[in-house]
Amino acid sequence: MSSVLRIALIGTGRIGKVHASNIASCAETELTVVADPMVESAQDVARRFGGTATADPLAAVDSELVDAVVVASPTPTHIELIEACIDRGIPVLSEKPIDLDMGRVEALRPRVERATSPVAIGFNQRFDPAIAEVHRRVGAGEIGPIEHLAITSRDPGPPPPAYIAVSGGIFRDMTIHDFDLARFFVGEIKEVTAVGSCLFDLSAREHDDFDTAAVTLKARTGAIVTITNSRHSAYGYDQRIEAFGGGGLLSVENVPASHVTVSNSSQAAAHRPYVEQFLERYARAYANELDAFVAWVRTGESSSPTFEDGRAAQVIAEAALRSARAGRTVNTDEIS
Ligand SMILES: NC(=O)c1ccc[n+]([C@@H]2O[C@H](COP(=O)([O-])OP(=O)(O)OC[C@H]3O[C@@H](n4cnc5c(N)ncnc54)[C@H](O)[C@@H]3O)[C@@H](O)[C@H]2O)c1
Repeated sequence: MSSVLRIALIGTGRIGKVHASNIASCAETELTVVADPMVESAQDVARRFGGTATADPLAAVDSELVDAVVVASPTPTHIELIEACIDRGIPVLSEKPIDLDMGRVEALRPRVERATSPVAIGFNQRFDPAIAEVHRRVGAGEIGPIEHLAITSRDPGPPPPAYIAVSGGIFRDMTIHDFDLARFFVGEIKEVTAVGSCLFDLSAREHDDFDTAAVTLKARTGAIVTITNSRHSAYGYDQRIEAFGGGGLLSVENVPASHVTVSNSSQAAAHRPYVEQFLERYARAYANELDAFVAWVRTGESSSPTFEDGRAAQVIAEAALRSARAGRTVNTDEIS
């Protein structure tokens, strides 16, 4: 392996461009191959951030110019690409979710267990500096064991209909980040109770999906997690966390788009709405996620969320969907 980690990026859409930019600006990595069947997009990204463009994702995994792979292609492609990396002993950081079909995730599990190279899953929110700080301070005992974790996640607006059509639904697509955070803070989840409604997004209704959801989780420790989701938010991207324990409360607040406030006859100390986009809110988190992956590849010490983390969050998503459909609490043991 060369001193700089040579990375192939597969998929150059919304999140792929974020990874391309981070790979190009990290001192320890170099973008050497960029793959996307829409080869013009791959060429554009290669021009801006480095590397050679190809339309063939598997050629990228096979390239002699590649030490590690970042998978940012659509969800149904993840498993085949992870398998190709495992077969060739190439470390891979794959976007979430692993797949929309739990059976396929389970089928991949034994191969990942036997893998000689890292398989990391892109739950970037663990790497957000504020969330990581709360996690560290909880770990240091500042508020005692978490008794209640409250997560609020509301997107600024619904994704395009074409995205909703293949997303797998709100729990597998959106809430899965919150399920991962729940496990990050309180460990394994035992019970899942979810409700969902479709109140405003016609394409969600068309695909029998929800645009509004609330989930209560009970951890094996007894800690309770409440998650509030919406596919829209009039005041910007609403991302907040409260960790509550006997010793107090640690909170992560929203990020304002500007630190300037206005006071006048109709408002006092008012901010503009919060940042509009996950790309802005979690910009630092994506860069830190890449750093953690590089450290994992270099040291062999697992730090990024693992395949098992990806699988466990997905089990909770499946349980949430079953709970919302059946109108009852679902035990995670019932899944898979
Ligand atoms: N961690 C996060 O915060 C986050 C945010 C957004 C998306 N994602 C995940 O990233 C993945 C991509 O999402 P997106 O929003 O960037 O999608 P996108 O539609 O914007 O981009 C996908 C790209 O992949 C390309 N592509 C299509 N088929 C391919 C194939 N077989 N091999 C390689 N590339 C292929 C497309 O041409 C397109 O350029 C999804 O799994 C999604 O769940 C994660």
